[in-house]
Amino acid sequence: MQGQEVQFKDIISHCKEYGFIFPGSEIYDGLGAVYDYGPLGVELKNRIKSYWYEWMTRTHEDIVGIDTAIFMHPEVWKASGHVDAFNDPLIDNKDSKKRYRADVLIEDQIEKYLEKANKEVAKAAKRFGDNFDEKLYRETNPRVLGYFDKAEALRKRFAEAAGENDMTALKRIIEDEGIVCPVSGSRNWTEVRQFNLMFSTQLGSIAGDAGELYLRPETAQGIFVNFLNVAKSNRMKVPFGIAQVGKAFRNEIVARQFIFRMREFEQMEMQFFVRPGEELKWYEFWKNRRMKWHQSLGLGDDNYRFHDHDKLAHYANAAADIEFKFPFGFKELEGIHSRTDFDLKQHEAHSGKKLQYFDPESQEKYVPYVIETSIGLDRMFLAIISNALREETLPDDSKRTVMRIPFFLAPVQIAIFPLIKKDGLPEMAREVQSLLRYDFACQYDEKDAVGRRYRRQDAIGTPFCVTIDHESLEAGTVTVRNRDTMEQIRLPLDALSNYFGERLSMSRGWKSID
Ligand code: GAP
Repeated sequence: MQGQEVQFKDIISHCKEYGFIFPGSEIYDGLGAVYDYGPLGVELKNRIKSYWYEWMTRTHEDIVGIDTAIFMHPEVWKASGHVDAFNDPLIDNKDSKKRYRADVLIEDQIEKYLEKANKEVAKAAKRFGDNFDEKLYRETNPRVLGYFDKAEALRKRFAEAAGENDMTALKRIIEDEGIVCPVSGSRNWTEVRQFNLMFSTQLGSIAGDAGELYLRPETAQGIFVNFLNVAKSNRMKVPFGIAQVGKAFRNEIVARQFIFRMREFEQMEMQFFVRPGEELKWYEFWKNRRMKWHQSLGLGDDNYRFHDHDKLAHYANAAADIEFKFPFGFKELEGIHSRTDFDLKQHEAHSGKKLQYFDPESQEKYVPYVIETSIGLDRMFLAIISNALREETLPDDSKRTVMRIPFFLAPVQIAIFPLIKKDGLPEMAREVQSLLRYDFACQYDEKDAVGRRYRRQDAIGTPFCVTIDHESLEAGTVTVRNRDTMEQIRLPLDALSNYFGERLSMSRGWKSID
């Protein structure tokens, strides 16, 4: 019983209704692309964080954690290239006064051509029925080929212009394609300009430009500048990694698709320092290992794919995204980058401090190369909830809304119900709660009929419901209902801890990776 996936807008309203995610500053009509996590959201988010951080630091003895400050010396962002090159190309529509990312307008246009091609294919599939050879049709039908050619030509032209940072060429593409403003419908565009994505603020004690600080746009630089501190204080030997979870800030122009693209978000990044020359071996290693981590969540292997970058950033010698099938299509969830020695060398040059490592094995000094794995915590959250939420039709034709969140990540792990509110059942239910609450996230509920309580727990993804009935008083047993199968079994009280421990522990997922 897999059930039907629900629409994206229903996921957003479900998140609000059940206290996973609220629009930021909602009573003031919200603040664009800023969201608050509610009581269930923060639980799920913390568990995702643990599933990543503890896996990194516990199951890899060569990885340690760190928690660096959001504010960093302003020179850090010059060294990293963010001051000069962390820009989006912007264009304004003079009639609607709306601002857009030029690259997004062009990508949407490419998408439109592809959609048109797919519509042609779908129409033909309907017309020809069982005899339809989709592959052949895609390869030979002139209209379909025409749309694919247009998409490909535009993609190429766009890649060239973007690669050259040529703002005039981007504007020309928008004009040539006749792209209109979705709000005003007009083609009355400004020039395309570069817009830096970093938020800046002032240090209180220094007046003027010297006091200008940035909110970090990635957590990685906190790791780079502490590379030697960590290596020395923890006697780390290359190859080793440093893992960090923390907030990052980007003044995104087109912030849309709920928590997919936010202005304040969290990253989970790991920099793995390796010997020069060994980076591509480690790049392959981390690419595959991160994919296995994703697969251990059970969201469906088909929902992931790699996207290898053809065009590499100036500091990288290999890069790939792990893409996930979100409700709006396959999109980047995580980046794996072989960043060479670019960052450490830049920090050496800008700080005047050596960031070399002495390798006791080779007796050489060198600046290590770095493999980075970088995933957005909020994006991972979105991947999980969008995959989890389903409308199911049960054998008796009734419906239920269920969130099939991986058991070990669920915000409430065990719900505890007395069957009715009398006869000593609530008291015994409270005892069961006391027994379990130190090891598991439990929720007590005695309101409404038990069937409705099951539905409420299904809707928030609780893996197990424990019901205390009259037999419990006599036999010391309870019923345990499984969210996914809806099967119920009876267990004695003293078996509960082990039963749940085996099924709710994160180690279950981690072990499947090794
Ligand atoms: N240190 C490398 C780095 O920051 P990135 O591709 O810019 O690389 C890494 O970001 C990940 O951070 C992305 O794959 C995505 O999951 C997440 N991310 C980036 N921008 C985001 C945003 N505006 N909102 C939510 N998540 C974002």
